Amino acid sequence: MRDAAPDTIYLKDYRPFGYDVKEVALTFTLHPNRTRVNSRIVFEPKPGGDPVFFLHGENLELVSASVDGAPVTPDVTPEGLTCTVPDQTFVWEAEVIIDPANNTALEGLYMSNGMYCTQCEAEGFRKITYYPDRPDVMSTFTVKIHGPHSVLLSNGNPTDQSEGFAEWHDPWPKPAYLFALVAGELVNHAGSFTTASGKEVELNLWVRPGDEGKCAFGMQALKDSMKWDEDVYGREYDLDVFNIVAVDDFNMGAMENKGLNIFNSSAVLASPETSTDGNFERIEAIIAHEYFHNWTGNRITCRDWFQLCLKEGLTVYRDSQFTSDMRSAPVKRISDVIDLRGRQFAEDQGPLAHPVRPESFQEINNFYTATVYEKGAEVIGMLRALVGAEAYDKALQLYFDRHDGEACTIEDWLKVFEDTTGRDLSQFARWYSQAGTPEVSIEEAWDAGTYTLTFTQSLKPSATTPDPKPQVIPIATGLLAQDGQEVVPTTVLELTETTQSFSFEGLAEQPFPSVLRGFSAPVVLKSDMPATRRAFLLAHDTDPFNRWEAGRGIARESLLNTIRTGTAPDPDYLNGIRTVLADETLDPAYRALMLGLPAQNELATTLFNEGTTPDPAAIWSATDNLRAAMAMHMADLLPVLMDTHQVTEPYAPDAEQSGKRALANGMLSLLSRLDDGARAAQQFEAADNMTQQLAALGALLRTGNGDDALGTFEAQWKDDRLVMDKWFGLQVIQSDPDRTAETAAKLTEHADFNWKNPNRFRAVFGSLAIHHAGFHAADGAGYRLLTDWLIRLDPVNPQTTARMCSAFQTWRRYDTDRQAIVAAELDRILSQDGLSRDTCEMITRIRGTE
Ligand code: BES
Ligand code: ZN
Repeated sequence: MRDAAPDTIYLKDYRPFGYDVKEVALTFTLHPNRTRVNSRIVFEPKPGGDPVFFLHGENLELVSASVDGAPVTPDVTPEGLTCTVPDQTFVWEAEVIIDPANNTALEGLYMSNGMYCTQCEAEGFRKITYYPDRPDVMSTFTVKIHGPHSVLLSNGNPTDQSEGFAEWHDPWPKPAYLFALVAGELVNHAGSFTTASGKEVELNLWVRPGDEGKCAFGMQALKDSMKWDEDVYGREYDLDVFNIVAVDDFNMGAMENKGLNIFNSSAVLASPETSTDGNFERIEAIIAHEYFHNWTGNRITCRDWFQLCLKEGLTVYRDSQFTSDMRSAPVKRISDVIDLRGRQFAEDQGPLAHPVRPESFQEINNFYTATVYEKGAEVIGMLRALVGAEAYDKALQLYFDRHDGEACTIEDWLKVFEDTTGRDLSQFARWYSQAGTPEVSIEEAWDAGTYTLTFTQSLKPSATTPDPKPQVIPIATGLLAQDGQEVVPTTVLELTETTQSFSFEGLAEQPFPSVLRGFSAPVVLKSDMPATRRAFLLAHDTDPFNRWEAGRGIARESLLNTIRTGTAPDPDYLNGIRTVLADETLDPAYRALMLGLPAQNELATTLFNEGTTPDPAAIWSATDNLRAAMAMHMADLLPVLMDTHQVTEPYAPDAEQSGKRALANGMLSLLSRLDDGARAAQQFEAADNMTQQLAALGALLRTGNGDDALGTFEAQWKDDRLVMDKWFGLQVIQSDPDRTAETAAKLTEHADFNWKNPNRFRAVFGSLAIHHAGFHAADGAGYRLLTDWLIRLDPVNPQTTARMCSAFQTWRRYDTDRQAIVAAELDRILSQDGLSRDTCEMITRIRGTE
């Protein structure tokens, strides 16, 4: 149990800080256990501002403090200090000692493999020195570093350097969460970029010796991102140097510190032998994401952490535009929607539901969620759909012009759209304040040449949104004639009322509607239209997203029917999917996506929403049966498509080659059900890249014939920590549901199960949590194992522990036996002495009240 219930912070309580910070100078003298941090900060009281001088500070040993050179004795608490200060500009100086080697939480200044690095977002800077650690306090920083390392880095431009010393100056005012420092024996993969206005920027990717061969792709992705942001948003880079550092111990994927991005090594290091096509694509996107923050996040930042979606939603939107441009737009859109439905919809329907802009929190780290990120990005996509691409561009230029150097709110963001378009966005703003996924139902009517669609929207009341109001929902709609010709091209219908009709006149025959094209709004669509409509859209829709969606819909219905009544897989689905897969005019990557089935977790949600208690084992076997039926129905096609989609050119992680490999591997996975893994064993032997090697290993594990390959793989890759993460994860993912917990438990006994490393912990337990039937096995073994390890990790790394707690967020959907086990496990976590604020908040919200 915690000593005291954590405090709740409210958006409505926002008050500006009473002082401006004119400049910050920091001097670090590095030592594993006793790093000395000297700060010299110039404060200026704001006229009429709150006179209380409070600086955040946690786990700091205060050695001395002075104001204008005279020693002071501040009032120190575990959260920070207050001090009496003059009512005019003054210089605050302090010396503190910190202990990076024992900082296992990986927040503040910590050590990873002998190297020093920092992670300050959201509130980690207060673990480095006393400071007003809030995003609306912005200042320029000068940083001096003393340390025996060959590489000493901080934000901004280098201004001085000698043996054991470096000085950096960042001329752009920034909040403390963007501060970074790195020191270590690192090697550099260098590059350069010339900006549109002709300025040469030095680019460096710093890695541990041995990782030099995994840098080229990340460097190219950085250059592509810099160019794209100039071309599409008119944003140039603004320093002489851009540094990226790879670290092995990192809670998140990557961090956008000004001029010194720090990356989880899994999010930047790549080579064909060790990384899958999926890894390459993710790396390209993350590099772009963090780079794009330079404008959306750094130059313009957030006033307070409630505004997190201002930078994250917008930057996710921007990185998805980048990926669409670099690769295939439909494939990217479909992947994003799969992800949104799998993670954000689940969050929105459970105890962790919150608006895109939350109004309260206990621990901000718990709000870096799918809702803030992914739904936050969807909201921007809707805004663009409503105002049009040109107006969007204009609004963004105004945003950059008007707010450069400021810490902003969602109101500032919406105002630039109102000012450029003259639209009133007050109703649209509900997307930021109402939690939950709206449901939209459709009815159609045909009357002598006029076709009418009537939409009704509804949003379930929830804890944070007890009285939901109608939202503005852009519904991109096209109409098709019965021969498949498009008679009305995509039009954005704006649904603003609870119920609203839209008519199309002068039609020769009753058309087929294709609604919510491109998934133009994050809603759940309900329609009573006959099932044959889906088959028609699967065959004819000109919108690639909706064509895929039609296939998904048929697969979902087929699976649900098997679960509900034991019926066999729908032959219309099998025939339809076969036709699509054999259609050589379609992009292989798109066809590979067509093969995917709805996630088991999603099926559980659907069943629960229609009043049925989902049975994870039944969902598992329905899915397994449908996969088997697909394999049989396409038995002749599988080897053919596999052979015709082999890449013969040297490996490249581009969209074209990855699409072929994705399709061929999709075929391999089905084929293994028929040939007992014979083709998979061949591919495993012959593979010269990780995409094919891992797919073959996965297929072999599923057939139960994977033990030898598993051993070979381990022997081959035991020294590569990123590949070994895959080895750990895959065994859990491919395990039978009655052995998932056992498999995970056994892996924790492996000599290389270094559980304090977040990547390794997530490889095992993240995989356990996403194995729907395995995690929710009836005996509760999955629940108990995860609980044991969350309890173990919490005192070491609260942030990573808390993020993994969301595995339990759906527990109230299941039967009473399962619920009783989970309730006991959640209570077991809550009863731990010294439980972190992070985990306490998550488990308390998930546990809820009866
Ligand atoms: N600013 C975040 C990193 C972060 C997250 C810091 C949470 C502190 C707490 C960064 O820009 C980010 O969003 N990273 C994502 C990857 C991105 C591609 C969505 C991540 O780390 O997962
Ligand atoms: Zn981000």
